[in-house]
Amino acid sequence: MCGIVAYIGHREAYPIILKGLKRLEYRGYDSAGVALVNNGLNVYKKKGRVAELEESVVGKDLHSNIGIGHTRWATHGEPSDRNAHPHVSANGKLAMIHNGIIENYAQLKKDLQNKGYQFKSDTDTEVLLNFIEDIQRNNQCTLEEALRIALKRVTGAYVIVLIDAEHPDTLIAARKGSPLVIGVGKGEHFLASDASPIIEYTKEVVYVNDYELAILRGDELILKNLGNEKLTPYIQKLDLELAAIEKGGYDHFMLKEIFEQPDTIFDCLRGRLDATAGTITMSGVQNYLEQLVNAPRIIIIACGTSWHAGLVAEYVIEELCRIPVEVEYASEFRYRNPIVRKGDVIIAISQSGETADTIVAIEKAKEQGAIIFGILNVVGSSIARISHAGAYTHAGPEIGVASTKAFTAQLVVLTMVALKIAHAKKSISEELYSTLLKELHEVPGKAATILKDTDAIKKIAEKYKDAANALYLGRGYNFPIALEGALKLKEISYIHAEGYPAAEMKHGPIALVDASLSVYFVATKDTYYEKVVSNIQEIKARKGKVIAVISEGDETIGPMADDVMIIPEAHEIVAPMLSVIPLQLLSYYTGVARGLDVDKPRNLAKSVTVE
Ligand code: G6P
Repeated sequence: MCGIVAYIGHREAYPIILKGLKRLEYRGYDSAGVALVNNGLNVYKKKGRVAELEESVVGKDLHSNIGIGHTRWATHGEPSDRNAHPHVSANGKLAMIHNGIIENYAQLKKDLQNKGYQFKSDTDTEVLLNFIEDIQRNNQCTLEEALRIALKRVTGAYVIVLIDAEHPDTLIAARKGSPLVIGVGKGEHFLASDASPIIEYTKEVVYVNDYELAILRGDELILKNLGNEKLTPYIQKLDLELAAIEKGGYDHFMLKEIFEQPDTIFDCLRGRLDATAGTITMSGVQNYLEQLVNAPRIIIIACGTSWHAGLVAEYVIEELCRIPVEVEYASEFRYRNPIVRKGDVIIAISQSGETADTIVAIEKAKEQGAIIFGILNVVGSSIARISHAGAYTHAGPEIGVASTKAFTAQLVVLTMVALKIAHAKKSISEELYSTLLKELHEVPGKAATILKDTDAIKKIAEKYKDAANALYLGRGYNFPIALEGALKLKEISYIHAEGYPAAEMKHGPIALVDASLSVYFVATKDTYYEKVVSNIQEIKARKGKVIAVISEGDETIGPMADDVMIIPEAHEIVAPMLSVIPLQLLSYYTGVARGLDVDKPRNLAKSVTVE
């Protein structure tokens, strides 16, 4: 939620910030702005995309070697020019960008208004900024001191970056609960919500932790805690290439990321799975194998698409490991009084590793003694740092707001974790273990087969693009895939879609079925196949349109369905890694056919760092 970029050094700041904002647009895109210093502050802000900001500043004074920029996902105050960041303090000297929410802003605002402060926006950010200004004025102290005092009195989550028009040689930043990376260059520093705006300038980065302050000059980086003690910055080398965050000839990131799946799944398996030797090497699991094998219960915590991966894992882990699994929405878990018992293992799944609800849910479980195992895509992310152990999905940067390749990689990692536990626990036969290793090994090739010719899926998307509603049905391992298919369609095409267990459909959704309803079945050859065929009959009997994802060689469903999407046959435990791909493509092509911006669907953001 919200992307921030800042620069200080010997180059022109504006082009670096603008390019960085375009890379961070996935985090929010309802308004954007920059603040630069050239004999005073120059602040430019615009409702809409970064490209609109870019157009609006043509001919303006953009010269500056220091600057801050922001792309917004609105929380307090509608998207508008005046609510866009950066905000400027009442005395006109300070400019600030913010990612997060200041929860006690209303009280602070009232206090400031009583002192005569007037506000130009509806944001919590402007309140915090004037609060800092007020402290500075009253205490006659430096900006850094005022910031430290202010942050001890605010509740909520933030990354903030400040510039002072009278001190254009310094950037000050602070973090609690939202991500912040510093790029360390030669005589220059970069700040951003993730490394993507930084990689083309430097590969040396410092990840700022919660309750830390960074004071940056061209050639100096000072890191402190809120107690004003200096900390030693831990400089890490970025393992990211520029090509990974560019579209590479595809029309959209979403399409690129769907097509990358044969490679990303392969990368996820690489160095871990050896089907011939019959081994899975995962040090994160190995180090906690005893606790995992003996876990009385596994609780999976996640949000969104990652939660769907957790649901698939529930079926897989219970089947293979015979350990009870509960799958929780992080946002619900954190506010309940959840029962976490000694020895329980929490598997936290998150592409970004920054989702606010997931972070707090983990912290809550950790306080109660649970072991936290993170399944994450972004290396060095907040959740990676608070987990005891884990496994990365190695899917590479995912930029399209709708998660695709991260989801299939999550399924692969979760299945490997389950297999490793099951093998150690001897809860599955050697024969099934080797079969599944071989099946996993074949997934990248089978995913490539699906992607070889996507014309049929595109035609189906065009045929049903004007439907007002869609129902997605599946059973067993494919039930969560029905949920994921529905989520993809609604977020990308804005068609109302619901996912349901196919049998449960009779308890309500069947009332919706008529000739205008598109009903998508995930109906691959598995234990539930015959039952799903009956459910298809029930829909057909009521004249619903049936579109089914089926296994190659299936001759039963084809004649019954209006349209089919065919995937290679696979063991039911790995089938979800494949059956989701046609549904991802279907939503992509539907969104495109409806003329929508599939990479940046309205109201959504990729990284949800507010609760
Ligand atoms: C947002 C994204 C989804 C994602 C969810 C959870 O809603 O748009 O694609 O599944 O957050 O994010 P995480 O990074 O924790 O997997």
